[in-house]
Amino acid sequence: MAIFVTGGAGFIGSEFVRAWVRRFPAETVINFDKLTYAGNLENLAPVANEPGYRMYRGDICDAGAVREALPERCDAVVHFAAESHVDRSILSASEFVRTNVLGTQVLLDVAREKGVKRFLYISTDEVGGSIPPGRLFREDSPPAPSSPYAASKTAGEHLVRAAAHTFGIDALITRTSNNYGPYQFPEKLIPLAISNARLDQPIPVYGDGLQVRDWIHVADNCRAVAAVLQRGRPGATYHIGGGNQTPNRELLGLLLNIMGKPESLLVSVTDRLGHDRRYAVEGSLIRSELGWEPEIPLEDGLRATVQWYDANREWLEHARSGEYRQYYDRMYGRDLKGAGGDRA
Ligand code: NAD
Ligand code: DAU
Repeated sequence: MAIFVTGGAGFIGSEFVRAWVRRFPAETVINFDKLTYAGNLENLAPVANEPGYRMYRGDICDAGAVREALPERCDAVVHFAAESHVDRSILSASEFVRTNVLGTQVLLDVAREKGVKRFLYISTDEVGGSIPPGRLFREDSPPAPSSPYAASKTAGEHLVRAAAHTFGIDALITRTSNNYGPYQFPEKLIPLAISNARLDQPIPVYGDGLQVRDWIHVADNCRAVAAVLQRGRPGATYHIGGGNQTPNRELLGLLLNIMGKPESLLVSVTDRLGHDRRYAVEGSLIRSELGWEPEIPLEDGLRATVQWYDANREWLEHARSGEYRQYYDRMYGRDLKGAGGDRA
């Protein structure tokens, strides 16, 4: 079997690649990644020398590069590559439209041209928009994205469904809730909080901090993605939830408790524009059809994640010294300075 993974140098894609290469050492995995600020080859160090693993640096919007890297009649494309951070999409959406929409169409076109057997699009629970308390976002609920990021991911989904309908491509979609775990870039809530707390720096809490996210360990998510890739029903969309709906302040309290740090590190800052209040997926389909269940309880997963960041300080330092700092200053510098704090 040969699979073509896009965005395999990012947080979730690299977990998927590491796990797949370890599990199927005789198979070929081609990792196609532009290596944007979020793509980090250090994430792939554990498998870089495995015989079945190949890295190809390229942009999914560049049809020529995709054509060159994608083998004829490849078994599957697993499409993780995206601009993934909501705050960045609020600052500027154009790169999100380019990569998440145009890039997805380019991949669909080249995959069809090359006779790829299966196309798996990695989507997000954010396509459902903010879900009122007591309600759940189901696979057949209409999408209602509210951030530019979520809108671009929804547009990608529509293109995937359109290609399946029009050309008969075997295409599937997974919609995952908030992932956490090792190798996550420290612009996202959990690695940012761990990294700041270790330095006794303030942790910015947007608005009242009562927004609810459903946290899932990245290893559980990637087991689900593998199950969908191998056994998913053609054309199906599967929700992948962690079963851990938690308000942000409660999550951060748990994390600080694990780290032995005080809650006084939490500092309220201006809310994210258009901030979705709650994500909540209904995720019984993947359980009943594919027998997948999340295995890592939230507290265990957070503890292991804290230990990983503690044991991999060099990785964190390298990640922290990039473009992230400038972007962060522009977006939140004033609030944190006002609170007398230092920045990440
Ligand atoms: P990430 O930002 O960590 O990684 C994205 C990867 O895509 C990087 O390696 C980057 O270099 C690459 N990339 C970006 N633009 C590219 C382009 N034009 N061509 C080729 N490669 C490009 O993202 P992540 O958090 O690992 O998310 C992976 C996927 O999962 C995304 O599609 C995201 O929408 C989806 N998702 C993420 C979460 C989450 O909690 N992180 C939850 C649900 C869904
Ligand atoms: O739900 C799935 C989505 O989860 C994915 O599709 C996205 O790619 C991924 O980035 C993530 O989006 P969120 O916006 O939910 O994740 P983030 O880590 O940015 O924020 C989590 C929550 O914490 C959210 O309510 C905003 C809040 N937050 C975030 C940061 C970075 C803070 O309060 N302070 C912060 O500094």
